[in-house]
Amino acid sequence: MNNLFLRALRGHNEDERPPVWLMRQAGRYMPEYQALRKKYTLMEMFHSAELIEQVTLLPIDMLGVDAAILFSDILLTAEALGKELTFEKGKGPVIANPVRSLEDIAALPEPDIEQGHRGVFEGIRALRKRLDVPLIGFAGAPLTVASYMIEGGSSKDMKHTRLLLWDHPTHFQRLLDRISQAIIQCLQQQIQAGVQAIQLFDSWAQILSHKDFVRFCLPSYKKILDALKPTSVPVIIFGRGTAAYYQEIAALNPAGISVDWPCNLRHVREAISSNVAIQGNFDPHLLYASESVIVERVWEMLREMEGDPAYIFNLGHGVFPDVSVSAVKTVVEAVKTYTPQLTHSGR
Ligand code: CP3
Repeated sequence: MNNLFLRALRGHNEDERPPVWLMRQAGRYMPEYQALRKKYTLMEMFHSAELIEQVTLLPIDMLGVDAAILFSDILLTAEALGKELTFEKGKGPVIANPVRSLEDIAALPEPDIEQGHRGVFEGIRALRKRLDVPLIGFAGAPLTVASYMIEGGSSKDMKHTRLLLWDHPTHFQRLLDRISQAIIQCLQQQIQAGVQAIQLFDSWAQILSHKDFVRFCLPSYKKILDALKPTSVPVIIFGRGTAAYYQEIAALNPAGISVDWPCNLRHVREAISSNVAIQGNFDPHLLYASESVIVERVWEMLREMEGDPAYIFNLGHGVFPDVSVSAVKTVVEAVKTYTPQLTHSGR
């Protein structure tokens, strides 16, 4: 069993290279994935234990990464709360019955996690029998899931979300609470089925001002961390565009923080406790660059974090769908072949 990832996440990777896995490591850049997408809709894939297992394993076999991330989607939580979810070509997720009014919030049903995630939990159990690296489960953070439920899909300006939050903060909070409850149930059941770490994706945390982030996001992270604490499963928080708040996030004591690419990792390490693992933050656009540039930049990042026992290599956001397979392989290989600079103190 390769436990590098869990060791680094617990801050105990003293002697070996940093572990590596990539957000969106299973996806459209892979021909095998594209072949499956010709046969099945995304929703069919997210609900089929067999396809979840197959797609989760694709990058493990092909790239040799140190952790697997479950093939699923953060928006299954919205579906479990009665939202009619589809994915449309060129448009991304679409929710046919968005939450727009206060009545819509009041009318949200009790989440049906068991029914809506049956394939997910079955897939997790099957994966644990097959994998020799840890399996990461995940959910969206409440704000990000709420934004899709309110906007009805992807949105550039997030107008409806912002207006609901400002004009009706109590109702917005009620919506976040309902979503948090569904997320907690979903994560507890993922853990019961066998995932060994959790990542929370707050991809749209960046739309909030600091005050609103403190008011709405931080307490929702805390609620989820508190609920999962008895399981002892480590939780990583990825909040896009939250660099200025890393100290506040770290104060909640998650196992790790996943850092997006505009940040300097050393600055983050200096700002937060050494108990909190740092994951990231290779610029995903660099996968368009030439092989030698990719290797040079990966090594530069590894040099910067050298000797840090709580560092996990990853991208600063997901792999883009149009990068080449060989670029993705180059990144992983570069992490694995890095030779530490013995003269560099690193910390
Ligand atoms: O990382 C992985 O390989 C695991 C699987 C995974 C998916 N979605 C599968 C997926 C994970 C971790 C997610 C999380 C997710 N989903 C997020 C948070 C992470 C982030 O990227 O910020 C968000 C915001 C979503 C919602 C979502 N799902 C959108 C906006 C889209 C369409 C746009 C896009 O990126 O393609 C999806 C579809 C989706 N989820 C795909 C995959 C592999 C694309 C599938 C396809 O078109 O074939």
